[in-house]
This record gives sequence, structure tokens and C-alpha cells, in this order.
Amino acid sequence: MKNLLLLFILFTLMVVSLISCDLGPESPRGFSLPEGNVDSGKLVFLKYQCLACHQVAGIQAPEGTIDNPKYNIKLGGKSTQVKTYADLLTSVINPSHKFAKGYALSVVQYDGVSKMKNYNDVMTVSELVNLTTFLQSNYQLVPYRRTVY
Ligand code: HEC
Repeated sequence: MKNLLLLFILFTLMVVSLISCDLGPESPRGFSLPEGNVDSGKLVFLKYQCLACHQVAGIQAPEGTIDNPKYNIKLGGKSTQVKTYADLLTSVINPSHKFAKGYALSVVQYDGVSKMKNYNDVMTVSELVNLTTFLQSNYQLVPYRRTVY
């Protein structure tokens, strides 16, 4: 009985620490940016030549865009997972946080560092907000498809 009580206390402590971890200073809670504009975001996307390494359905690279055939990372389209505003923004300002799924690791990273170009010292915050809004407008959420046995 005493052991059971001890186990219960330990379990409660674990749950509490997990929950409080989520609300700690490192938590994304409270994150919010001003509303962005899709059309302005598209201009930012073209300005920084994201199409050099990316593909977005329905968007042609303007003449003069460098083509980096080593990377052909698809952005947008149907996804069973919501790409939140925070996900997309993080992909741009901290690309090594999480790598794009569906590609060989050797294609997307080297030594744990994303091969994506870093724009943190050149892009304005307004550009980033609009860009993220534009990126998000290209994702459609589809229901998860179950495997039929
Ligand atoms: C030099 C090539 C290169 C350029 C230029 C580039 N990217 Fe990337 N990008 C990558 C690679 C490689 C990945 C996959 C690794 C990763 O997820 O960090 C990636 C991943 C991403 C992802 C995450 C995709 C996913 O499915 O998780 C987003 C969003 C993204 N890039 C947006 C942009 C935007 C916006 C620009 C322009 C401002 C840009 N990229 C410019 C190479 C590039």
C-alpha cells in the first residue's frame, strides 16, 4: 500500500512537471503575430527566390530565378497534419528545429543543420509575417487516411 502511494505521488509529480514544462518560459504559449497579407507574402516569396529550392503548385518561378536542382522541396498542398503559423514561421527563421518530412536526411541537412538558406539578417518582420500567411494559404488539410485491413 505504501509503495502504491509512493508510485502515485511519483506519477503525479511527473504529470505536473510535464504540464508545467509546456507552460514554462520556453513554451510557445502566448505566441501571436499581426495579421499578414497573402498577396504581399507571395511577393516576398518571389523576392527572396524561395523557388530556387522549392516548388509550390500553381506558382511559376519568374525569369531570372536561380534554379538549385539539388533541392526540390515541395511546399503547400494537401497534408494530413496542420501546418500551423508557428510551424511555418519556425521553418523559415529556425529551419534546423525540424526537417521537412519525406526526404532523405542527407538531402535536407548536414550535421544536424538544415541546408535551407538563412534569411534572419535580411528579411523584415513584416515580410516574415506576410510570407508565413502566404505559405499557410497554400496548405489544405485532408482527413487522415486509415489503412484498410
Ligand atoms: C538553398 C535552398 C533553399 C532556399 C533558397 C530556401 N529553402 Fe526552404 N528548405 C530548404 C531545404 C533543404 C529544406 C528542408 C530542410 C528543412 O526542413 O529545414 C527546406 C524547408 C523549408 C520549409 C519546411 C517544409 C516542410 O515541409 O517542413 C519551409 C516552410 C521553407 N523551407 C520555406 C522557405 C521559404 C519561405 C524560402 C524563401 C524565403 C525558402 N524556404 C528558401 C532549402 C531552401
